[in-house]
Amino acid sequence: MMSEQTIRWLIKPVLFVLCLVPLGLFTFDVMSGELSADPVKDATLFTGDWTLRFLLITLCVTPLRRLFGWIWLIKLRRMLGLYAFFYACLHFTVWFWLDRELQLGDVIEDIIKRPYITVGFSAFMMLIPLAITSNKYSICRLKKRWQKLHKLVYLIAALGVLHFLWLVKSDVLEPLIYGVLLIVLLSIRAWWERRAKTI
Ligand code: HEM
Repeated sequence: MMSEQTIRWLIKPVLFVLCLVPLGLFTFDVMSGELSADPVKDATLFTGDWTLRFLLITLCVTPLRRLFGWIWLIKLRRMLGLYAFFYACLHFTVWFWLDRELQLGDVIEDIIKRPYITVGFSAFMMLIPLAITSNKYSICRLKKRWQKLHKLVYLIAALGVLHFLWLVKSDVLEPLIYGVLLIVLLSIRAWWERRAKTI
């Protein structure tokens, strides 16, 4: 069993830095001129990928904790979830600022007219209340409602996969892999919940 001190002073700081590694590598590519002819697209794809990856990594915490008895993992879930939100904010900012150049009219038109943007934007909006209520105070105050609210993350991840599937033209392999992973993660939960009801 991992001690409280080890988690607080070793595991959490290491994880904090690890989660910034993708951003560091991308920044390095920017600095060394390694991006393609469309750097804004590169930045959108990079941040979108990592938003979805962090959402899925966060959803792995509970199954891993229950399957292997790694109770301490739960203490890392909040940080992972907030990193998903962090990369989502970057993703949205790159699109809003660099792609749409802060043109509110264009942005609203895109959200309404392009289904994959509608889906991505809805997922992003839903992430906001989860990020705001990811603290101990909200958990204590909202109690059962907190658990209900945070179940939204399943829908958010599903919308993230749909958003990805919708925007790719032909190469559906990557979004499909994320989709299958999500189905597995959600099925494990559904199965546990069903079993708990029948016991
Ligand atoms: C939870 C929310 C979101 C997730 C998980 C997500 C995920 C992704 C993923 C995985 C990609 C594709 C990356 C690749 O091809 O390698 C992507 C691309 C993209 N996303 Fe999102 N996204 C989210 C929200 C949004 C929002 C809010 C917007 C804008 C309103 C947006 C706009 C875009 C655009 C414009 C692209 C690139 C399309 C292209 O140039 O090919 N996404 N996103």
